[in-house]
Amino acid sequence: MRTALRACAALMILVGLGGGVSPTSARDLDAVIGESLFDRVWTVAGASNRGSDGLGPLFNARACVSCHAGGGAGELEDGRGLVLRFPDDPHYGRQLQTGAVQGQEAEGGLAVSWRREERVLDDGTRVELRAPVWRIEEPGAGPVPAHGSLRLAPSLAGLGQVETALGAATQEEAAGRGFGLKADHASLAGPVREALLLDLGLSTPEQPAPWGDCTALQPTCRTGPHGVEPGDAGAELSPTIVNALLAYLRDLPAPRPLAGPDPEGERLFMQSGCAACHQPRLGELVAFSDYRSHDLGEGLADGDPADPQAAFWRTAPLWGLGRKLANGGFLLHDGRARDATEAILWHGGEAEGAVAAFSVMPAAARARLLKFLEGL
Ligand code: HEC
Ligand code: HEC
Repeated sequence: MRTALRACAALMILVGLGGGVSPTSARDLDAVIGESLFDRVWTVAGASNRGSDGLGPLFNARACVSCHAGGGAGELEDGRGLVLRFPDDPHYGRQLQTGAVQGQEAEGGLAVSWRREERVLDDGTRVELRAPVWRIEEPGAGPVPAHGSLRLAPSLAGLGQVETALGAATQEEAAGRGFGLKADHASLAGPVREALLLDLGLSTPEQPAPWGDCTALQPTCRTGPHGVEPGDAGAELSPTIVNALLAYLRDLPAPRPLAGPDPEGERLFMQSGCAACHQPRLGELVAFSDYRSHDLGEGLADGDPADPQAAFWRTAPLWGLGRKLANGGFLLHDGRARDATEAILWHGGEAEGAVAAFSVMPAAARARLLKFLEGL
């Protein structure tokens, strides 16, 4: 109860009610509050502002916007938005937290180097591919886990429309589609709560452990500062906060295409079998994704090789691809691909036929297909 009251007070301070924000409807107000929460730099429990604190004890960033700049995708260049997930490690938990509040020890630093390999297309064109190899610098929580999965923050643009399209689909159509890089969340609230818990160390009523991803083998951080005081019922954050964040995400417009229709480019896209997964339309939505996860083969598999889901990834939506490419690429779940050609050549598994079609295309047709992708 007290948590909820604190949250309300914090919300009013955050939007500065009476201080010039003039939303036109209740929904706008939620989105405005949500945006300030998304940009908010969370503070440690016990700091002077007790409004809605509770960051940590372990965290990866202090704000959503640190990884999803402006709701956009992460950039590998400076490591922003990159995290390392584990298959529930007894020491490190579900994710490597590279930050910790004062008096606590971070689990280590995340460093990435590159393994390079070359592919040769049918017409002799050589393409250098790079795959990330992660390392934990100064591991602080115990023996380094054998397996991990690097993930780069995806763009959040248009997620509200995806939610609407999935909501309008029949139960049968919507089954298996969803949010997160493995499509493992049926609702948009899922990855938001997960982000609060794993990335920021903030608990919600559904994930109430105030120590976040700190495991039973990390006793110091289990007793470290957090935002729930003795006698408090509930979690560090009330549902109001999660709902405001959701309202902001739902308000983020879908990416707009950079170029007009290109029937010839689209024909090549369909002909190569890309649309089997990058389904152009989902109801009203033109996102070029079926929002399902598919087996993309060994090359993109990571985490525990014994995990049957290791090679499965959600079809990356191709809307906004042109802007992503203009911003330096960072394609695929870990940002390894620097352009569309590299991204396509990493496809395997269920997409083997499509890669083969791409690899044998005459240079002019391939250029045309790539131009189509750049216009999305
Ligand atoms: C430390 C970096 C980091 C921070 C901070 C972070 N995220 Fe993310 N976000 C990620 C990564 C990485 C993924 C992909 C995770 C996965 O599904 O494997 C992701 C995925 C998501 C998704 C799913 C997107 C989709 O396409 O399905 C949503 C929604 C999201 N984040 C919202 C948030 C919100 C809201 C916050 C703040 C509460 C936040 N994130 C903070 C890195 C971050
Ligand atoms: C079997 C399903 C499937 C087929 C067929 C397929 N893709 Fe993909 N595509 C995916 C998945 C899944 C991802 C995400 C992989 C990852 O995150 O590592 C992806 C990612 C991409 C990306 C990276 C986008 C980004 O923002 O990171 C591009 C570009 C792409 N595909 C283009 C194509 C093209 C062009 C074709 C046809 C030649 C094609 N794909 C065929 C499933 C498929």
